Amino acid sequence: MKILIVGNMGYVGPVLTRHLRRAYPHAELIGFDAGLFAHCLIGSAPLPEIYLNRQIFGDVRHIDKTLFEGVDAVVNLAAISNDPMGNRFEDATLAINYKAAVEFAVTAKQAGVRAYVFASSCSVYGSAEEGAKQESSKLDPLTAYARSKVMAEKELIPIADERFTVTCLRFATACGMSDRLRLDLVLNDFVAGALSQKKIVVMSDGTPWRPLINVKDMARAIDWAIGRSTENAGVGLIVNVGSNEWNCQVKDLANAVAQAIPGVEVSINTNAPPDKRSYRVSYDLFKQLAPKFQPLADLKSTILELKEGLERVNFSDKVYRESQYMRLNVITKFRDAGLLTDKLEWPWSMNKVDVVR
Ligand SMILES: NC(=O)c1ccc[n+]([C@@H]2O[C@H](COP(=O)([O-])OP(=O)(O)OC[C@H]3O[C@@H](n4cnc5c(N)ncnc54)[C@H](O)[C@@H]3O)[C@@H](O)[C@H]2O)c1
Repeated sequence: MKILIVGNMGYVGPVLTRHLRRAYPHAELIGFDAGLFAHCLIGSAPLPEIYLNRQIFGDVRHIDKTLFEGVDAVVNLAAISNDPMGNRFEDATLAINYKAAVEFAVTAKQAGVRAYVFASSCSVYGSAEEGAKQESSKLDPLTAYARSKVMAEKELIPIADERFTVTCLRFATACGMSDRLRLDLVLNDFVAGALSQKKIVVMSDGTPWRPLINVKDMARAIDWAIGRSTENAGVGLIVNVGSNEWNCQVKDLANAVAQAIPGVEVSINTNAPPDKRSYRVSYDLFKQLAPKFQPLADLKSTILELKEGLERVNFSDKVYRESQYMRLNVITKFRDAGLLTDKLEWPWSMNKVDVVR
């Protein structure tokens, strides 16, 4: 089996790569990434990319068919992957998360790839006051990031046929340890604050609902999507990925962290304007379709995993919200230094250059 992991050098990619290497020791795993966050490792050794057979540096907006030679499955993680980055770089977000994701699928299909797995997001539901959202529920994307995922899904599903399955996984908000840890994710942020400042600062009033999933369970869901049968689910599938038990309010997440790490103060911004991005999600379909790939991690074990991971690298940065573990900081710095263009491209333009073997 030959699997192309696109956007493999981010937060999810290293965890997925390790999972696939373990699950398919003899598979040929190829990584393809622009390397925006390649340097943002958290004291990990060895480099996560050693689990691949090959790393290609390139931009999803400039690809050709040869990339897909002999490839059985493509997993597309490449994205401008959160709301703050999407708001600041809206055009690039649409070009990468939507246009390139669709173009990628079209080219992959023409080249004979049989499975395309797209990392979508539960943020497509936007605000969901009235109960848990199902895949068929009305969408309400509130940000450029969420809109890009909706637009991509809409054009990806019709590309599917008997020889080319398309699976759009609407992931809950990720959390947990990775070799390229992010602290711009709600639970990870709270654990970092608890360790470095003995304080958790909740920016909102704590009431928004945010379903979560451990990044290791995202990798298991992607594994399922690569090999899934089309019998019950059809050739083109959109499915929420997470678990019903992990629909939590932000204040409950903060309190759970404070309970697991003693001596931590929780500060909730009771004056904050209501955060409209609040949604509860039903994961019943995923449970029905993928009973053997259901999330295994729970909130407590994930908090402890993050605590241990951060303690292992003696994490103590009180101003971590200004650090390279916040993705917006990384790309803004590159942009301001003239290293990235407004389109978030390296100026010397990256046409597929093999640099690591
Ligand atoms: N982390 C989450 O909470 C979460 C939740 C739901 C869905 N997702 C989706 O899962 C995927 C992976 O998320 P992540 O947290 O690892 O994101 P990330 O930002 O950490 O990684 C994305 C990767 O894509 C690469 N990339 C960006 N633009 C590119 C381009 N033009 N060409 C090639 N590579 C490019 C980046 O260099 C980076 O390595 C994303 O599509 C994201 O939208 C993430």
